Amino acid sequence: MCGIVAYVGEREALPVIIKGLKRLEYRGYDSAGVALINGELQVFKKKGKVTDLETQLNEQELKSNIGMGHTRWATHGEPNDTNAHPHYSLDKKLAIIHNGIIENYASLKQELISKGHEFISETDSEVLVHFIEDIKANNNCTLVEAVRLALTKIIGAYAIVIMSQDDTNTLIAARKGSPLVIGLGKEEFFLASDATPIIEYTNEVVYLNDHEIAVIENNGLKIKNTEDTPMTPYIQTLDMELEAIEKGGYEHFMLKEIFEQPRSVLDCMRGRLSATDARLTLGGIREYAGALENAERLIIVACGTSWHAGLVAEYFFEEFCRLPVEVEYASEFRYRNPVIKEGDVVIAISQSGETADTLAAIELARSRGAIILGVCNVVGSSIARASHEGSYTHAGPEIGVASTKAFTAQLTVLFMIALRMAQRKGTITESKFREMLVEMENIPNKIEKALKLNDQIEYISDLFKDKSNFLYLGRGYNFPVALEGALKLKEISYIHAEGYPAAEMKHGPIALIDEEMPVVFIATRDSSYEKVVSNIQEVKARKGKVIAIVTEGDKLINQMAEFVIEIPATNEALMPLLSVIPLQLLSYHIAVMRDCNVDQPRNLAKSVTVE
Ligand code: M6R
Repeated sequence: MCGIVAYVGEREALPVIIKGLKRLEYRGYDSAGVALINGELQVFKKKGKVTDLETQLNEQELKSNIGMGHTRWATHGEPNDTNAHPHYSLDKKLAIIHNGIIENYASLKQELISKGHEFISETDSEVLVHFIEDIKANNNCTLVEAVRLALTKIIGAYAIVIMSQDDTNTLIAARKGSPLVIGLGKEEFFLASDATPIIEYTNEVVYLNDHEIAVIENNGLKIKNTEDTPMTPYIQTLDMELEAIEKGGYEHFMLKEIFEQPRSVLDCMRGRLSATDARLTLGGIREYAGALENAERLIIVACGTSWHAGLVAEYFFEEFCRLPVEVEYASEFRYRNPVIKEGDVVIAISQSGETADTLAAIELARSRGAIILGVCNVVGSSIARASHEGSYTHAGPEIGVASTKAFTAQLTVLFMIALRMAQRKGTITESKFREMLVEMENIPNKIEKALKLNDQIEYISDLFKDKSNFLYLGRGYNFPVALEGALKLKEISYIHAEGYPAAEMKHGPIALIDEEMPVVFIATRDSSYEKVVSNIQEVKARKGKVIAIVTEGDKLINQMAEFVIEIPATNEALMPLLSVIPLQLLSYHIAVMRDCNVDQPRNLAKSVTVE
């Protein structure tokens, strides 16, 4: 899970690559490197962030109209200068950048060592470029053919770009399992892990498919597959604004993305939901709408925050569609021997659309006859393409590693799918259907209102920023929100946090409570309100410090909790769209106050494209 970018054309390649790498840093930031043709094929690389590399490169006179760069999230070999990409071949005439994992690299490495190859790094990627070099020498073939032959022998996942000192205007790229987009400019070409480094230059793109090899030379693009069959590039026009991927005056992407939520939820509903017309249309689910309607059970697979969205969706589908739902961690599902029957429907939720475990889970389910519906944010992503049908969340690019606006957009899409299915199945009355549409349409304004709590939450954050542990408790629809609140805090502030169903507290976690323990209750007015009030009292009786997210106007909890954060009222099912907002802000402010790198927390990457 790394970011790759490459350029060939009339411009200076280095600034294009450095800017592109900064946009891709969410994919990994252990080290960065570039390759350029500056008289000869030169590689510069360094442990740390792209800016560290940039500072080093600024001291040199580097001119090249072709180049490639890489930002790494370490898999094989610790993060250091040597393991950073690009990697040279033995004769230093080839260089490679790679995102993915070559699973059979160890046996290939042994074979190459026995032929006299020496390796500098511990990476699987270096083995691949040596392997290509070896094949080229032994078969006396072109570089493209050597790449093709090598890829037929590789097990694993890759998006690669290769440059050669002997073909100074050529970029060769290939993918299997890791994303790669080709940008088509005027007599110039771009390659990147996603479209964000490309969009300011061109919106014409080609998404490379698995097992395809792209050759960019002589101002032209040719694509073939690893079986040597020429493929016709499918050119798409992207609808993405540059400002959508920049910070727009916010200190961090995460804060920008939190504040974008009124807009992103609205964008997600746009053209799909109209309360006035009592209409709900999901253009992406047509052919398989009947399959979902008739399914006897639904399986939801996802990871992390997307899994939390899946938990909320379980309640949607059960409540509105009366459909049994199983919500699975994709990473567990893929390694069990899950019972899947022909006609089962699997919903895969993924912001990036590239999460390896989720992709593998749907491939498994699909091979056993399930219908796959994807709920992805990134258009053209691997999961979107591996699904039969689906609905995009249209939240816009999410750059901060901590997922925020993708979560609320996922909830919005899942709610719309469930409600539409309920209407088709006849498990919801027309008046309830209309009532829910009206309430959903009000959500963006209510999120706007919840965001006004920012100052109060910043104040509370200051009082709790030095705590070592947090407990998050909620019931019903707010239980997954408790999990999400705890995950947000853990991942960006490095404070230990646990989310629990509030009633489960008595079965263990209550032992943790003392005067040092902050307990965040999501205690909005819903069907379990009274029960949650009792849970608050149990915590108070043990001197825990209660921060309660309550419905506007709540008097009762006000008298018990140290702090109450009042959010607008809404229907119980839609409350997660509002109750998560203060939790996102709480984790954000605490992380900033602890001087943590909010957008790029340690050890994490935005999309986890390895197991
Ligand atoms: O791109 P995906 O939605 O498939 O990603 C799944 C998780 O890796 C992701 O939600 C992760 O947990 C986030 N860092 C949470 O903020």
